[in-house]
Parts: sequence; structure tokens; C-alpha cells
Amino acid sequence: MKTIDLRSDTVTLPTGEMKEAMVSAPLGDDVYGEDPTTNAFQEEMAALFGMEAGLFVPTGVLGNQLALKAWTQPGDEVIVERESHIFNYETAAPALMSALQLNTVPTRRGVYALDDLAAAIRPSKYYYPRTSLVCIENTHNRYGGTLYGIERIRELQRFCAERKLRLHLDGARIWNAHVASGTKLRAYGEAVDSISICFSKGLGAPMGSMLLGPRDFIARAHKFRKIFGGGMRQTGIMAAAAQHAVRHHLPLMEKDHERARVLAEALQHCDGFFVDESRVQTNMVLLDFSTSALSPQNAMQMLADSGIRIGMGMGRALRAVTHLDLSDDDLQQAVDVFHRLFPAS
Ligand SMILES: Cc1ncc(COP(=O)(O)O)c(C=O)c1O
Repeated sequence: MKTIDLRSDTVTLPTGEMKEAMVSAPLGDDVYGEDPTTNAFQEEMAALFGMEAGLFVPTGVLGNQLALKAWTQPGDEVIVERESHIFNYETAAPALMSALQLNTVPTRRGVYALDDLAAAIRPSKYYYPRTSLVCIENTHNRYGGTLYGIERIRELQRFCAERKLRLHLDGARIWNAHVASGTKLRAYGEAVDSISICFSKGLGAPMGSMLLGPRDFIARAHKFRKIFGGGMRQTGIMAAAAQHAVRHHLPLMEKDHERARVLAEALQHCDGFFVDESRVQTNMVLLDFSTSALSPQNAMQMLADSGIRIGMGMGRALRAVTHLDLSDDDLQQAVDVFHRLFPAS
């Protein structure tokens, strides 16, 4: 029996066509600024998001951390959402790499209430840190791939501009947000000061992210990328995979969302956990065990023993993620296992 991996959209493997694109990419030394594939791809992505410039980086974490570094001074405070990736999964990098303090604001599924944000901004007194940057995440990972609507982002943009704060978007899954909401990628670029995008999540590239923003900001980030050890040589091999992913896999993403909805619907016929279908906005489904006698850890083990790999979510929840390497047959196999292990009474 095939093992079905629903842990993350990062588990995909590069396709034959993607590997072809990687081996045939024209290459040069990117530390000298001479990799033609990377240079062209940075321009292509900047244009796609309506931003001035782009900087190719190996990971989403580096994209976010370069943004924090390039927008702030040591000792500043950065406002992040309480359940954000930057706060929870980036290993205290803002403190280690940029001497920053994070101020976390709880939200409803990743979307700030402006009153809460206003309360988090430090008055300009000598004994407070200076608030200089606000970060958002779209789609929101820990809340289960939820959307930050473009109107709310524009509202936040006005709020930040009035207070001379910069706005950074962790757009590791901005592709999912774009596909699910129909919002143009350019509209996101116009509504924030910088974006970090990833090619190795729903798009299926083996690695690669990009930081996008104004030219002078990208020039600062470029220097810091070198300082942080992220200056690489023939990066066109990675950029070609990422470019292939955007061109050929973005049009397939709607299918991931559809499969997530199918899964969420099928799980309504299970006992032992609860799935709120209204929360399935993109490619993630959360299985809520908060009122269940069964622990999510035990359920995860039962599923693993039956060939279904699934990850932990926030609190007493499991998280199933649909992705490029999951077929309709795989999904059906997973649904059959769920129905067998957790039959409705
Ligand atoms: C929302 C979000 N931001 C950033 C990252 C970091 O990406 P990477 O693993 O490429 O460093 C992830 C990874 O899953 C993520 O989900």
C-alpha cells in the first residue's frame, strides 16, 4: 500500500520537466551578479508583483529575516501576529541576527484588528523601543491556510503609512491566496512595502524563495544576504526550478484547493474529531480534537500505521495539507482510511 503524505505542501519532489529546466539553465556566478537565469527571474517576479526589485534566496526564513534586517535598526521592535511563522518557527532569528524585539499581537485567524495594533505601537518616549515594522502572513500557516483579504491589507497599509511604519508580508503561500481569492499578485505588491515569496511550498520547487521590494531596500538586503552566508554561485539551477514551478504549477493549484474541500467534506462523516469546513479556504484541513477523548498524537499514530502521514496543528489539532504530488486516487485512499479508523456512529 502506498504511503500518502499529507503533512505539508513542502514534501513534493521535482518533476522530470523541472529537472530538465534545471540542467539546461544558462548559468553564471551570482556573487558577481552574473547568473543570467537568476537575474531574469528576479526581474520577472518583481514585475509580476509590481515591485521594483527582487532578491533570490534559498529559504523563506532567509527572505523574512532579510526583510526584518533591512527595514529596522538594532533595538527596534517589530509587530508580528501571535501565531505567525516569524514568531513561532524562525528560531528567535530576529533577536540573533538583527537585535530586534518582537511584539506579538493576537488576531482572529491572522487578521489584525487595527485597535489592537494601535495599542501595540510604542509611544515615542526614550524608554520605549521604537516600533518600525508590522508583519502579516498570507495565507496563514498555523490557522490552516487562511486568507488575509486584500481590502484588509489596504486598510493596514494606510494605517502603517500614517504612522510611518513599514509593512512586510510573509507570502510563503501568497500563490494560494491569489488562486483562492482571485486577487492579482500585483495588488499584493502594491499594498505592502516588501514580500517574501516561496517556490518550495505549493508550487513544488525543491528550494528557493524571493524577497521583493523597493530597489534601495533590496540593495540593503543583498548586502545582508552575503553577511548571513546566503551569497551563492550558480543559483540559476535553483532559479530555473522556481521559474518552471511558477509557469507550470501555479495553474494547477486550484486542484489542491478543490481536493482540500473534498477531504474536509469527507471527514464530516467521521467521529472523534471535528472539521470546520468553512475554515478550509486553501490547501489545508484542520482536524480539531479539542473535545475528543482521543489525543491527536494517538490519532496521528493510528493513521501512520495505516499509511497516512499527517502533521500536528495548533493545540489539539492535526493538519492535513493537499499538494502537487497528491492524486485523486491518493485522496480516495486517505479518505477510505479515515472512514475505517474513525467511522461515524
Ligand atoms: C508562512 C511561512 N513562512 C515562512 C516559511 C519558511 O520557509 P522555509 O522553510 O523555506 O525557510 C514557511 C515554511 O513552511 C511558512 O509556512
